[in-house]
Amino acid sequence: MKILAIESSCDETAAAVVEDGRTVLSNIVASQVEEHKLYGGVVPEIASRRHAEAIVGVVDEAIKAADCTLDNIDAIAVTYAPGLIGALLVGVNFAKGLSLATGKPLIPTHHLRSHIAANYISHKELKPPFLCLVVSGGHSHIVEVLSYTDMRVIGKTRDDAAGEAFDKAARAMGIPYPGGVELDKIAENGDDSAFVMPHPHVDGAPYDFSFSGLKTAVINLIHNKQQKGEEIPVADVCASYRKAVVGCLTDNFLRAAEDLGYTTLVTAGGVSANSLLRRELERLCKDKYTLYMPEKYLCGDNGAMVGSQGYYEYLDGNIAKSDLNAVATLPIDKRGF
Ligand code: KG4
Ligand code: ZN
Repeated sequence: MKILAIESSCDETAAAVVEDGRTVLSNIVASQVEEHKLYGGVVPEIASRRHAEAIVGVVDEAIKAADCTLDNIDAIAVTYAPGLIGALLVGVNFAKGLSLATGKPLIPTHHLRSHIAANYISHKELKPPFLCLVVSGGHSHIVEVLSYTDMRVIGKTRDDAAGEAFDKAARAMGIPYPGGVELDKIAENGDDSAFVMPHPHVDGAPYDFSFSGLKTAVINLIHNKQQKGEEIPVADVCASYRKAVVGCLTDNFLRAAEDLGYTTLVTAGGVSANSLLRRELERLCKDKYTLYMPEKYLCGDNGAMVGSQGYYEYLDGNIAKSDLNAVATLPIDKRGF
């Protein structure tokens, strides 16, 4: 079964053709990041307009690159939640129009479920159940993936998401948006023991995260040095901060795995591209857990992951009618259509 998948939840207009949930026939991503960089973050209004401009070309290119025509496509999957509402609506309305014109089924797909599904593309043998650390620009969750479409959140952030925590600290050091990627590169050349960072815990909720205190600590450290006219050792700050954020993620994730008896561990979302997170998980899981992480090109937003999750949603009968709407906030375990 060939699915045409469309993603427009944030600042990438993406489309892909995926066969039987696991084989990527094409994967086209048009990033708006250069434009948002000018403003230090995603400007929702600009994002929606750029999606509207790009979507026809991106979908056309995805179909052509897959050596297909619309006739060869069996269904259309689209990200309908969560995300920037104006951005989501561009993809949803485009997919609805295409579904109406072609008579092909329309499959609404949850963005975070799709991030998890990126792993089904990278690892053909991977099947639920497993425990997943979902870390993106907007979310930090520990999720029990009980089946392809049945999930339970057991831990989440109480404030900032991991990606947001990286981006905000980077911004305070003058690193352009999305700073997490650059901070990771700079940290590779820093001394991670140069600064002692807090290690926040959430009382009574051992799998929950809290990054706002850590973010404040690094911002205070930078301001303090600036006020004293001292030079900021950017690489050392990046390395110390990255170690602290990654430490919170790995501690809670492995504690949850141990407590709940999971032996298959999976990561998902943009932050799972972080070099230290990958190295640390590989080290900590060795001989104890089977670890799966998406290939780096599938960690960030893309259409292929939507095509993968869309396939399993289709098998589960999750088909939308023509009144499908976009939803800005929707838990991973809820249905919003
Ligand atoms: O999953 P994603 O592409 O979009 C959302 O659904 O939010 O995640 C984007 C986030 C951004 O905050 C970005 O800075 C972060 O992922 N990110 C990284 C790295 N690559 C992307 N954070 C730390 N290290 C990286 N290598
Ligand atoms: Zn995402």
